[in-house]
Amino acid sequence: MEGILVNYPLILVNFKTYKESIGEKAVELAKIAEKVHLKTGTSIALAPQIVDVKMLIDSSETPVFAQHIDAVGYGQFTGHILPEAVAESGCVGTLINHSEKQLPLNIIEATVKRAKEVQLISVVCVDTVEKAKIVARYNPDSIAIEPPELIGSGISVSKAKPEVVSGAVKAVKVINPKVKVLCGAGITNGEDVAAAQKLGAEGILVASGVVKAKDPEAALFDLARSLRH
Ligand code: G3P
Repeated sequence: MEGILVNYPLILVNFKTYKESIGEKAVELAKIAEKVHLKTGTSIALAPQIVDVKMLIDSSETPVFAQHIDAVGYGQFTGHILPEAVAESGCVGTLINHSEKQLPLNIIEATVKRAKEVQLISVVCVDTVEKAKIVARYNPDSIAIEPPELIGSGISVSKAKPEVVSGAVKAVKVINPKVKVLCGAGITNGEDVAAAQKLGAEGILVASGVVKAKDPEAALFDLARSLRH
């Protein structure tokens, strides 16, 4: 089945290891994402647990990302996540260096390269503007700026630390204008999304605001309809 394409502005929903977003619940969320995309036209992608990837791809047209890949190749790398296997499963992209799965700079660079080799969209997470500048030179498809102290806080980066978002956008575009800049941490409602976009962000990376919401469909709809295309 031909999946929905990833476009910007983008809402990327990270399922992390939340109880509310594994197995059958992940499939339900994927169906919700597809419905919200069809209603709003907003591009939405999901990053579930790696074991749930195939099930999501088979049951919905929503684009799926891995939460992580390893910069390894075919052979003797037991326990690693092989980029080729992720691409073959039908994933369209991957997070790299999420705040909860941090990597040294040389490994980030190698992982971006491996993602390109297998045609996975690379979204590299960074915690500071300085890190964003370094990573922009690795030429990922996208950089997501996320101050770690706001992750899961319900206090949105776009409101609490607007200078970090606008600073990252400005810095990245000077170095490598092709790189799309997302922001994340604490985003819960449409106002947070609109604020992010005003600061120059080309989308958001969100987790608890959708996954842990009382009504994930209403929460995702609120985020999606607030993004200007
Ligand atoms: O990957 C998204 C993330 O780290 C932000 O989490 O729960 O603050 O939306 P949350």
